[in-house]
Amino acid sequence: MWEKWELKNNPYSQNPIDERSLNLFVGRKKEIALCYNCLSTSNSRIVIEGGRGVGTTSLANYVRYTLSKKGGYLTPDIEISVGRNWNLELLLSNVIAAVVYALERRNRKLTSNRKFQNIKKTTQVIEERFKAAGFQAFGFGGQFGESAVVSYPRLIPVVTLTQYMNELSNISKCSDNSKGIIIHLDNLDIKTVFEPDSLRNFLNEARDSFQIEGYHWMLIGDTGLRGFIGSHIDRLDDIITAEVKLKPLTLKKVQQLIDKRIRYYSLVRKKVSPPIDFEVIKYLYSLTDGRLRYIFGICTRLLSLISSEALIHTVDLDFAKPIIMRLAEERIAQRNISPLSLRILRMLVESGGSTTTELAKKLDKGQTSVSRCLRELLTKRLVKFKKVGKEHIYSPSLDAKVAYG
Ligand SMILES: Nc1ncnc2c1ncn2[C@@H]1O[C@H](COP(=O)(O)OP(=O)(O)O)[C@@H](O)[C@H]1O
Ligand SMILES: [Mg+2]
Repeated sequence: MWEKWELKNNPYSQNPIDERSLNLFVGRKKEIALCYNCLSTSNSRIVIEGGRGVGTTSLANYVRYTLSKKGGYLTPDIEISVGRNWNLELLLSNVIAAVVYALERRNRKLTSNRKFQNIKKTTQVIEERFKAAGFQAFGFGGQFGESAVVSYPRLIPVVTLTQYMNELSNISKCSDNSKGIIIHLDNLDIKTVFEPDSLRNFLNEARDSFQIEGYHWMLIGDTGLRGFIGSHIDRLDDIITAEVKLKPLTLKKVQQLIDKRIRYYSLVRKKVSPPIDFEVIKYLYSLTDGRLRYIFGICTRLLSLISSEALIHTVDLDFAKPIIMRLAEERIAQRNISPLSLRILRMLVESGGSTTTELAKKLDKGQTSVSRCLRELLTKRLVKFKKVGKEHIYSPSLDAKVAYG
C-alpha cells in the first residue's frame, strides 16, 4: 500500500531500531557516548530507563550493534525479553542459548570445538524440556501464558550454567571479540511485567552473574527502574556502572527521524512529502508526551484507513483529529466497560489525575463503587496509578487522553 505515497515501506513503523536500520537512528549523542564509555571497561552494567515507547530498546540496540560492527564485541541478534517469574536458571539458559547462536553464526569453525558443542547440546536439552513441559518455544521474548504462577521445568544447576558462561566468554575472546559480550535485557518493567517483589528477587539472584568477567549488561525498563534498584536491591545498586534516563526525543528530532525514514524508503529521486502532515504528529506528541511507539501506531492505522481512498492523499490535522479520536474510542469500547467507569475515565482525562475520594465526591457516589470501577479500569489498562505518600492517584491511559482530550 505504500506505493500510493511513492514509498517502499511504512515510514511510521513502530519497530525499534535494529541491526538493519541503524542509519535511521537520530539524536541521543550524549547517552551514546556514556554507554560507549562504560562498555570500554572489561565488565559493566548499564541501566537505561524511560517512558514506554520513547526509544529505550532502540538506544540499547543502536549502541550494541554499532559496537559489534566496529569489532571487538559480540552481541546476540536479539534482545532478551525478561518474562514474568523468571528465575536465574532461566535467565542464564536464555543468555547462553543466545550467545551460542550468535557465536556459531559468526564463526563456523566452532563446529569442531568440543567445549562449544557440549554447551550447545545443553541448550538443546533445555529446549526439549521446555517443549515437553508444554511451552511453545524456548526462548527469545517468549511469553509463557498470562497466568501469574508459572512453574518452569528444572533446567541445569546454576553452577554449571555459570561455568558455561565463563567458557563462552573465553571462546568468544578467541574469536576476535576481546572487548566482551553485550547482553541486552529488556522489559524490566515494574508492575506491567513484574510484581515489585518478583523483580527484586530476580535481580538479587542475578547479581553475581552480572559480574561474570567478559560480559556487559544493558538493563532496560520503564521509568523508575534505577530508583527501584537503588531503594530495594542494595547488592545490585553498588555495582551499576551508569544509568541513562531517556527523555522523549524533541519534536525537532522527531521531524528529522521521519524525514530520514521518508528519504530512505522513497521510491523516486525527487523529494517525497510525508503522507501525514507534521501538525498531526505535533498534536499526538503533545497528547502522549512524546511516546513514539503510540504515535506511530496511530499514524499507521490512519494511513491504512485511507490507503484505498484515491481522493485522499495526505492527512492534515482537521481531517485526522476526528478519526484519531474515533480510533481511540473504538479501542476503549472494545473493552466493554460499565457506564460509570466510562464517566470516571472521562473525568480523569479532564482533571489529569484524581484520587478515589475526589472522584467519589465529584460523582456523589460511594467510595466502594468508585473503587470497583477503578479496579475495572486498571485491569483493562485504561488507567494507571501512582502512589504519592499514602494516596493512590489515578490517571488516564493514552487511549483515553486521545479519545476525550
Ligand atoms: N533515537 C531514535 N532514532 C530513530 N528512531 C527512534 C529513536 N528512538 C525511538 N525510535 C523509534 O520510536 C519507536 C519506539 O521506539 P522503541 O525503542 O521501541 O521504544 P521503547 O523501547 O522505549 O518502548 C520505534 O519506531 C523506533 O524505531
Ligand atoms: Mg522497548
